[in-house]
Amino acid sequence: MKIVVTGGAGFIGSNFIKYILNKYTDYEILNIDKLTYAGNLENLKEVEKNPNYKFLKRDICDSDLIDFIDRYDVIINFAAESHVDRAIYGPKIFLKTDIFGTFNLLEISKKKNMRFIQISTDEVYGSIEKGSFDENSPLNPSNPYSASKGSADLLVLSYFKTYKLPVNIIRSCNNYGPNQYPEKFIPLMITNAIENKKLPIYGDGLYKREWIYVLDNCKAIDFILHKGKEGEIYNVSSEFSITNIEVVKKILKILKKDKDLIEFVKDRPGHDRRYSLSCEKIKKLGWKCETDFETGLDLTIKWYVENENWWKNIKRNKEFLIHYKKIYQK
Ligand SMILES: NC(=O)c1ccc[n+]([C@@H]2O[C@H](COP(=O)([O-])OP(=O)(O)OC[C@H]3O[C@@H](n4cnc5c(N)ncnc54)[C@H](O)[C@@H]3O)[C@@H](O)[C@H]2O)c1
Repeated sequence: MKIVVTGGAGFIGSNFIKYILNKYTDYEILNIDKLTYAGNLENLKEVEKNPNYKFLKRDICDSDLIDFIDRYDVIINFAAESHVDRAIYGPKIFLKTDIFGTFNLLEISKKKNMRFIQISTDEVYGSIEKGSFDENSPLNPSNPYSASKGSADLLVLSYFKTYKLPVNIIRSCNNYGPNQYPEKFIPLMITNAIENKKLPIYGDGLYKREWIYVLDNCKAIDFILHKGKEGEIYNVSSEFSITNIEVVKKILKILKKDKDLIEFVKDRPGHDRRYSLSCEKIKKLGWKCETDFETGLDLTIKWYVENENWWKNIKRNKEFLIHYKKIYQK
């Protein structure tokens, strides 16, 4: 199979590329990435010499992108602006990349007769007090990131209905694991704890999220790639839910650090209280989540402990520091 991955230098995309090239030795991947602050070719060092892997530094919004792509079997679109906090103070780029970029890729898929898989998020459903959202639940996003992702999902579905483009949408819960940019919750807490810095927690810390180890999500995407039914949406989650404060306590315990490092900070506006997904649809196809949270968190912490150079380079960077100041030191 010949796959175009967009946003493959980011967290989930890079884990997905490594997983696929390792599992299917005859598959080819073209990774198209603009290399924004979140893209890092270091994440792909182990595959950069693989003859089945190619990299193209381009923006998914580029109108001439089509001229750079041969006919592949499928485009899997991971490329996005992905951080909610950044969307709150600078939404414009989210609309451009997450909506217009998706539209551009849909047009390319249509013109080149390629299947299209959109990597979406549980955030498009918004917050739920009790119970879980299934794939038929209405979209109710709360911030410019989730609204952009939700808009992109609607566009993807319209290409299925109007042009019969074979599409899938995969909506996963929060991912964690190696190579996640350290502005995101779990790697920020791990790396701050290692550095004995304060761990900033929004509001009362009782916000609840479901967490999936990134490899389990990569396996789910692989699953949909091979078994997904055209036009269908699939939720992907561990269905394990935990409050932010409990996650932080677990991290501090594993790293043997003091709870005094915890610092409650002013809440994020429009903060969704709880996300929850029902994954019966993908489970019926035969996928199941394999990594429990304790195991995944141990593996993740081990990776950040063993790869200090990777995240220290990022955290020393002006780009990271400016954002950190904007968010937590208001
Ligand atoms: N991380 C999560 O917990 C999570 C959960 C659910 C869904 N998702 C979705 O999964 C996808 C990947 O998330 P991630 O956490 O790996 O994100 P990330 O921010 O780590 O990576 C995004 C990648 O996209 C690239 N990119 C950004 N704008 C681009 C553009 N205009 N053209 C080409 N490349 C561009 C970046 O350079 C980066 O490599 C996103 O679509 C996100 O919405 C993420």
